[in-house]
Amino acid sequence: MNKKLTLLLITTSTLILCSIDSQKGKYMNNNLQAIILAAGKSTRFNTENTKLAEKICGQAMVLFPTKLLQTLQIPTIIVVGYQQEIIKNIITAAHGTEVEFITQEKQNGTGHALACTKALWESDDILVMNGDVPFVTPDTITALYEEHIKHNATISFVTTCSDDETGKSYGRVVITDNGISIIEAKDFTGDKNQQYELNAGIYLINKNFLQSYIETLNDNNASKEFYITDLIKIASQNNLIVTTINAPFNTIRGINTFQELLAAEQIKSAELVNYWMSRGVRFAAVHNVHLDINVSIGQRSSIGSGVHIRGDSIIGKDCIVKEFSCLDNVILEDNVTIHSHSVVSSAYIKSGAEVGPFAHLRSHVTIGNNSAIGNFVEVKNSTIDNETKAKHLSYIGDSTVGSHVNIGAGTITCNYDGVNKHRTVIKDHAFIGSNNTIIAPITIGSNAFTAAGSTITADVPDNALAIARSHQTNKYDYAKKLKPQRAQEKKCIDEKNPDNFSFTGARVIHPDTESR
Ligand code: UD1
Ligand code: CA
Repeated sequence: MNKKLTLLLITTSTLILCSIDSQKGKYMNNNLQAIILAAGKSTRFNTENTKLAEKICGQAMVLFPTKLLQTLQIPTIIVVGYQQEIIKNIITAAHGTEVEFITQEKQNGTGHALACTKALWESDDILVMNGDVPFVTPDTITALYEEHIKHNATISFVTTCSDDETGKSYGRVVITDNGISIIEAKDFTGDKNQQYELNAGIYLINKNFLQSYIETLNDNNASKEFYITDLIKIASQNNLIVTTINAPFNTIRGINTFQELLAAEQIKSAELVNYWMSRGVRFAAVHNVHLDINVSIGQRSSIGSGVHIRGDSIIGKDCIVKEFSCLDNVILEDNVTIHSHSVVSSAYIKSGAEVGPFAHLRSHVTIGNNSAIGNFVEVKNSTIDNETKAKHLSYIGDSTVGSHVNIGAGTITCNYDGVNKHRTVIKDHAFIGSNNTIIAPITIGSNAFTAAGSTITADVPDNALAIARSHQTNKYDYAKKLKPQRAQEKKCIDEKNPDNFSFTGARVIHPDTESR
């Protein structure tokens, strides 16, 4: 028998952030192309949506294999089918036109998906990967390739070992006197508790073999699908060389259910937190902190419990992000403090600034050096220059605010007239009194003052004081008269409503009304 089975244990790092430059270009001159199977219906997710668009630490599942193959410079074809527009949009946004798509109209199984690409087979060997295996490392692909070439194999594939309960849903690698085959979980009739090596769903297959045998696959199995895995049995039965390499389970775990997605995200999250800790970042808690893959954090920064940092956020050095704040696509320069429970997205926050607690910054906000945005302040689409303070209960929308401005508590920029948005400009050193309503479009000049409680409807010149509120009248000794009146009023109500259930009919006595 001319069969060869090689089991090679490879220890690979799961950290995607590791340097892979040395592998770049390795396949450039090698005759290799890749196919990613991404047409499946994701039935086990039970959402009726393709699971391949689900994100793991901010990146769609299908982009993990596409980016891996891009790094390894292996030309790639993606088989799409179920919700193909969603998958194509995600991949095109990340890779432009450098990947090719082919459609599998009906999802008849992984073998059928591969068969759909037949017209595009060009290279001597074809790397096929499931689209739902996100943590495959460059090392694994390199080792698979080297093993395949070394043994002049017809098929090489990646196996793994796992006593994880989810491993029981994988194809088992079964070796008998008849050769090697993969038996799918649904078709497996042996002892389910016996340990087998598992099929990882990553194959390197000789093109000539594929061309000769792809049509021989059948759907005589429990799923009534054409299995790619049957190619192993076919090669083995034809005395062709089949080799395997073994990779750690965490690097090849497939994702078929939300439970598996959660487990995968926890692994990736822990990996990212570990990485940033090794770069000098302090974490108060790790189990409930979420970091997306593209986030970066500077030395000596401190990340509190329950903090979520998403998108392409860049956190500078010596920053403090306190408990339960959510940052999405933000840039924090060095020495920025985000106090707890703040929600900040699309914002650029300069050195020395403080935000929160309970602040909301969104849609293109810039906060200048040493400025302070305090509790219950919302800032939207606005630029705030250096040393400016808006510390309490305000809305600053579509505004350009200068430096050294003080915005009093309760100030609202009225930017929306029901149809259009208008800008507010507040120049340097202006002082906005508390509880101002500033009706845009409007400009408040530098060094100007606005009185507390004002509704500012017209521009305020530089250095001017604007007062826009009604005058106060003091009625001397009126309180002495008012108190007995209130008592009498209450007595009447109580008599009408002995149980004191209802205050309906109570008349509010106002000093102004009474005096008329
Ligand atoms: C597959 C393997 C199994 C292996 C496991 C590893 C087969 C028959 N079984 O099982 O041996 O242990 O992966 O994770 O291949 N797809 C299509 N078109 C289809 C069906 C699926 O493109 O008609 C795509 C899916 O989108 C997915 C990939 O193929 O990305 C794998 O399909 P999936 O149904 O997840 O296979 P498993 O049951 O996990
Ligand atoms: Ca799968």
